[in-house]
Parts: sequence; structure tokens; C-alpha cells
Amino acid sequence: MALSHAQQNPQPVSTPRALTVLGLESSCDDTAAAIVRRASDGSVTVLAEAVLGQNADHAPYGGVVPEIAARAHAERIDQLARQVLGEAQLTVHDMDAVAATSGPGLIGGVMAALMTAKGIALGAQLPLIAVNHLEGHALSPRLTQRLDFPYLLLLVSGGHTQLVLVEGVGAMTRLGSTIDDAAGEAFDKTAKVMGLGFPGGPAVERYAGQSAEPDRFALPRMLMKDKSCNFSFAGLKTAARRVWDGLDQPTDTDRADLAAAVQGAIARHLAERAGRAMDQVAGQLGERKVLVVAGGVAANSAVREALREAAEARGFERVAPPMKYCTDNAAMIALAGAEHLALGLVDALDAPARARWPLDAAAASADPASGAGRKGPKA
Ligand code: KG4
Ligand code: ZN
Repeated sequence: MALSHAQQNPQPVSTPRALTVLGLESSCDDTAAAIVRRASDGSVTVLAEAVLGQNADHAPYGGVVPEIAARAHAERIDQLARQVLGEAQLTVHDMDAVAATSGPGLIGGVMAALMTAKGIALGAQLPLIAVNHLEGHALSPRLTQRLDFPYLLLLVSGGHTQLVLVEGVGAMTRLGSTIDDAAGEAFDKTAKVMGLGFPGGPAVERYAGQSAEPDRFALPRMLMKDKSCNFSFAGLKTAARRVWDGLDQPTDTDRADLAAAVQGAIARHLAERAGRAMDQVAGQLGERKVLVVAGGVAANSAVREALREAAEARGFERVAPPMKYCTDNAAMIALAGAEHLALGLVDALDAPARARWPLDAAAASADPASGAGRKGPKA
């Protein structure tokens, strides 16, 4: 898809009339559908939305199992599409387009939403918009508030950890990304080591909140000598495992103290790297300098607080979308679809499902951080 004219239109374009888009999402472990209306001035209303999580399906395995996820998406996605249309009291013939995440993500899952969207597009004669999931996250704060481009985005989820300068629809520059695990994976994997269950992030936060000695275990600081905006969490995970293995019959006190150490180390690393990125792009932003924090890990209050402090120290405002738009959802996909449609950017019905699809192809090819991970590519 050509994005050149999108890059010349950094602010929302006005359209002769409102655009109503059905969005579908199934790239990881949430099946979602939503209908978004983008008014002619670019303002946004979510008309209906639904998300079905799969935590119970994956919990016995301590992580997302791709085949289980794909099957669950395929069983639920068309029903969810019908449900949101019913809730909005609309039919597919009231839609101006159908948008689906077409990557990056677990390929079997991605195909569920994309194929459903293709079927609807073909049957109802609607344009199809193949949305990059990461662009959905990048635009998500605009579901609930006016936010002009450019702004800085920190995306921290179970599959992604990256800093992106969001300059406009289809115009994003990646400043840094994880060179190994995603931040959410660091939470999930250390939780698994400590036997805290899945998903690990909320459990680690709960235990950390009970720690009376959060400084008891010293964990290494990551990438101390590295001057980039990249992240690394693998060393932390290994160090936490070593501490755990060294404990003789660990108690809940040990769990709480180690959880607090892990959470503190992740929060500090995220804030330090985001601080670097803020320093780097401050001159390119307008008077209102914004750091958007999205992704499931943004639910963590220690992470939120560390980022608020780092932002405040640099004259940045830290904006976090409401939790339901921080985690995977279809409203952000419908919105990205509507923004593409407003720019006349639609896709052919043979648009591929992509396991990998970096937001910023130039940055991804230049650096090794674009490897495949548990939940798909981290680039
Ligand atoms: O964005 P998300 O719902 O799904 C994707 O990964 O795409 O993020 C899920 C991740 C999981 O790794 C989960 O453990 C983490 O977000 N998470 C948290 C918290 N809530 C969810 N991590 C730390 N603290 C939390 N409260
Ligand atoms: Zn996501």
C-alpha cells in the first residue's frame, strides 16, 4: 500500500461525510469486533465494541498456545461481528468499510479476522482495509481524546516493547525496540518461575504490593552502557530465576519481595529508555509534548508511575488510553481503518496475513530486534 500521500497529511483530514467502519482483531489472544464512526472533522465515536479474552484457555500452559488461540478466534469472530452490528443497530450495508488486523501476530489467529473481513467485504461490496496491529495501538489514544500528531508512543505488551514517533497515519518512526523479550513476557516468565499463574503481570503486581522489603533482592540493570532506545529483559529474567532457585523452600514473603524487585527493575528500565527517547525527539514535537503509553503492561501502576515521573521531569505529558483501549481491542483497528479510508487508502482482497509486519520497515531491517517471539514478532 502506498503511504506517500498519508505522510503529507499529518493531521486528520476532513471528509465530506462521516465514515463508519467495522473493525476485527484476532492477532494474539483476544477476539474483538467494534464499530467506529469517524465524523467529517476527524472526531471519533465508538458505536459498539466487544472483546473475548482467552486467558482460561491458555492458563494451563502458562502462555498463549497458537493453535488454541487460532481455533478460539475462528469459532468466535463472526459471532462477535454480528453482535456489535446488532448493538449498534446497523447492518454491514451501513458500513463504509471493513478493517481487520492483518499482522503482525500469530498467523493462524490473524487469518481468522482477516478472512472474515474479506468475506464481509466481498459479500457486502465494501472496501477492505488491512490494518497493521501496531498502527492500531499507535492511534488508540485518539479513540477518546483529541491528540495531534506528532507524539511519542511507548507500546508495552506481551508481544511488543517499542518506542515509536507517531508522525501521522502511516507515518511512524521506530526509535527503539526490545532486543529479546517483550516487557509483558518478562512479567509472565518470572511469574511462571515463581508459580504465580498466567497472565503473570497482574499476579506480579499483586505480590509486589505485599512486599515489605522491595529492595531485598538486587537485580541487574539492563543495557547500562547502551546509548540507544532499545530494551532488553532476558538478563533480568535469568537473574530472577537464579534468585528463585537459590531460595530454600520459598515463602509468600520471598515471592512478594522478588515480585517487587522484578516489577521495579522493569519499571525503571522502561522509564529510563522512554526518557532517552523523549530527550531525542523533544525538539521535533510541538508545544504539547506527549508520551502515550499503551499495551497491557501499561496497566501496572509502578510502570505508570515511573513513566509519569520520567515524563514530568522532561516537560512531557503522559497520556494512557483507558485500559480497554490499552490492551488488544477492535476499536483501534476500526479507527485505523477509518483513517486509511479518509485518505483513500484501501486494500485488495488478496491482502496477505503477515506474521511479521514492522511499522517502520527501514528501522526493522537495520536492526536485529525484529526476531520472532512467543506472541509473534517484536519489531
Ligand atoms: O496488550 P496485551 O493485553 O496483549 C498483548 O500482549 O498483545 O498485554 C498482555 C501483557 C501480558 O504479558 C500481561 O502479563 C501484561 O500485559 N500485563 C501486566 C499487567 N496486566 C497485564 N503486566 C504488569 N502488570 C499488570 N498489572
Ligand atoms: Zn496488541
